[in-house]
Amino acid sequence: MLGLLSLALRFFRSQLRPLPVPTTSYAGRTVIVTGGNGGLGLEAARHFARLGAARVILACRRVDSGEAAKADIEKSLSLPSGSGSPSPSSAGVVVEVWPLDLCSFDSVRAFCRRAEAELSRLDVLLMNAAVLNADCVEMAEGYEVQVTTNVISTFLMVLMLLPLMKRTAAKQNVETVVTVVSSEAHSLTRFAEKDQPRIFECFRPGSNIYERYSTAKLLDVLIVRELAERLDAASPGGTPVVVNTANPGLCRSRLFRDIPSFARFLLAVPMFLIGRTLEQGSRALMAAVAGGRESHGQYVDSGRVDMPSPFVVSQEGKTVQKRVWDELMEILEGIVPGVTANVGQAP
Ligand SMILES: NC(=O)c1ccc[n+]([C@@H]2O[C@H](COP(=O)([O-])OP(=O)(O)OC[C@H]3O[C@@H](n4cnc5c(N)ncnc54)[C@H](OP(=O)(O)O)[C@@H]3O)[C@@H](O)[C@H]2O)c1
Repeated sequence: MLGLLSLALRFFRSQLRPLPVPTTSYAGRTVIVTGGNGGLGLEAARHFARLGAARVILACRRVDSGEAAKADIEKSLSLPSGSGSPSPSSAGVVVEVWPLDLCSFDSVRAFCRRAEAELSRLDVLLMNAAVLNADCVEMAEGYEVQVTTNVISTFLMVLMLLPLMKRTAAKQNVETVVTVVSSEAHSLTRFAEKDQPRIFECFRPGSNIYERYSTAKLLDVLIVRELAERLDAASPGGTPVVVNTANPGLCRSRLFRDIPSFARFLLAVPMFLIGRTLEQGSRALMAAVAGGRESHGQYVDSGRVDMPSPFVVSQEGKTVQKRVWDELMEILEGIVPGVTANVGQAP
C-alpha cells in the first residue's frame, strides 16, 4: 500500500513539474534522433533544428513519414513566432532522413556504418524510438519485439556509434551525449526474469508478454548506469561521452495505440487531465540531453536528475545490473564481433 502511494506521489511530482522551453545552443552540432518521424522524437528534432544544430538526422523505419516530418520541421522554422520560431543560427540547419529499423540488426549495422562513413562528427544521439506492444507476442531477431527494439538494437546502435562520438569529443573539444529514453514505467515491473539463470533467454519465443514494456525500460536504466561506470573506468580523466536516461512523463502520443481497449479507457482520464503535449514532453528529452556531467549515468525525470526506482539502487539491483550487462554484451558480440571493445577504447 505504502509502495503504491509513493509510486503515485512520485508520478504526480514528476508529471506536474513545469518544463521550460529549451535554450541550450546546438550551433554546429550533428544530432541523430531515432523515431524522429513522429511523437516526442519529432518535437525534439524540431528543437535541435531551432537551436542551431547543423545537421539533424531523423532515423526512421518509415522513410515517407520521415520526409513528412522533415518538411514539417523546415516549414515551422520559417514561422515568425512561438516555440518553433527560428533562432538566428537555425537558418543553416540540414534535416536528413536516414532509414533505420530497430527490429533488424542488419538495418542497425547499415545505419551505423553509414554514420561512420558519412559523418565528420556526432554530438548527440537521442535514442528515442520504442514500441509498446501489450497484448501480443511479436518477435524480431529471435527476441520479443519490445526487447529487440527498446533494448538490444538500442544498445547495439549506441556501442557502434561510440567511437565516432569519442572522436568528436576529442577533436572538437566538446562533451558528446547519448540519451536513452526510458519511462516511469521502469518502476512498475516485478521483473520476474531476473530470477532465471539467463535473463535474455526469457525474452525468446513463447515468452510471457506481461510487463514486458516496463521491463525493457528498466533494462534501459540498468544498462545506462553500467555503461556510464564502464566509460568512466576507461577514461580516468572523465569520459567525454555523457550517457543518461530520460523520462518524458505521460504524453499524448501514439505510443499507446496497441494497448487493450480497457487499459486505454483507464488511461484516458489522466491523459486528458495531465497528459503532456508532445512539445512539452520533448522538453524533458532536451533537458536530459543538456544535462551535462551531473546527469552522467543518471535518470533524468521530467527535466531533473532524480532517483530511479528503489530496485535499481538496491544491492540486488546492482547485482542484476552486472548480469544484464554481461548477457547483453555477449549478445551484441554475436551480432557485431568486437563491438563491445568500443566501450573501453580510447578515441
Ligand atoms: N508517450 C508517453 O507517455 C511516454 C511516456 C514515457 C516514455 N515514453 C517514451 O518516449 C519515446 C517516444 O515515444 P512516443 O511517446 O513519442 O511514441 P510514438 O509516437 O509511438 O513514437 C515512437 C517512435 O519510435 C519509432 N519506432 C518504433 N519501432 C521502431 C523500429 N523498429 N525502428 C525504428 N523506429 C521505431 C516509431 O516509428 P513509427 O512511426 O514508424 O511507428 C515512432 O517514431 C519512447 O521511447 C517511449 O517509450 C513515452
